[in-house]
Amino acid sequence: MRPPRILTFAGSIRTGSYSASLAALAAKELALLECEPVLISLADYPMPIYDGDHEAAEGPPEAARLLREQLLSADGVFIATPEYNAAVPPLLKNAIDWTSRVKGEGDPFRKPVFCIGSTSPGALGGYRASMMLRQVLALGLGALVLAEQAMVAGASQAFAENGDLKDERAQERLRGTLRALIEQAALRAGLRV
Ligand SMILES: Cc1cc2nc3c(=O)[nH]c(=O)nc-3n(C[C@H](O)[C@H](O)[C@H](O)COP(=O)(O)O)c2cc1C
Repeated sequence: MRPPRILTFAGSIRTGSYSASLAALAAKELALLECEPVLISLADYPMPIYDGDHEAAEGPPEAARLLREQLLSADGVFIATPEYNAAVPPLLKNAIDWTSRVKGEGDPFRKPVFCIGSTSPGALGGYRASMMLRQVLALGLGALVLAEQAMVAGASQAFAENGDLKDERAQERLRGTLRALIEQAALRAGLRV
C-alpha cells in the first residue's frame, strides 16, 4: 500500500518567513514519518488578485490549476499561515479563492484532510489567523480540518539554526499534530484498514 502524500506550504513567500520555516520544519518531520511529504512554495504559483472580470475574460490563472492539481493529488495538506491584522494574509486567501474557482473533476478541498499551522513573532502565535483559515476551509469550502493544529508564538526567537524549534516540547507537539494528520489522511484515502 502506498504511503499517504502530504502537501505542505506556507502563506508567505517573504525571504526569512517564519511560516515558511514552519512549513519546512513540518516537511522535515513528515519525512521521518510514514508518508510522502511534498513541500511547495506559493512563489511558484503566482496569481493576480482575484477579479471577476479577469475570471470572465480569461478564466482562472494557470497557477490556480496547478495548485488545484497539487491539492487533488494529496491525501493531507499542512498549511502554515502568518497573521495579518488578525487575519489570513492576502497571498494565501487569494490562492485559495482562485483555486476554488477552477472547474474540473474532483474537489481539491474535500478530498485531502487539512491541518493548520500558524506563526507570529507575537504572543498569540497567529491564533486568530488560524481560526480564520479554519473558517475559510471548513465553512467556506467544506474541508475536513483537523482539530489538532500547530502554533508557534515568539517566532523570531523560536527556530534554531538547523530549523528545529528550540523548545523541545513544542517540537514534540508539532510531531503529534503531524502524526494525527498522517493517520487521518490515510484513513480518509483508504490507506489504513
Ligand atoms: C500588514 C501586516 C499586518 C500584521 N498583523 C499582525 C497581526 O495581526 N498579528 C500578528 O501577530 N502579527 C502581525 N503582523 C506581523 C507578522 O506576524 C510578521 O510580519 C510575520 O513575520 C509575517 O509572517 P512571515 O514571517 O511568515 O512572513 C503583521 C504584519 C503585516 C505586514
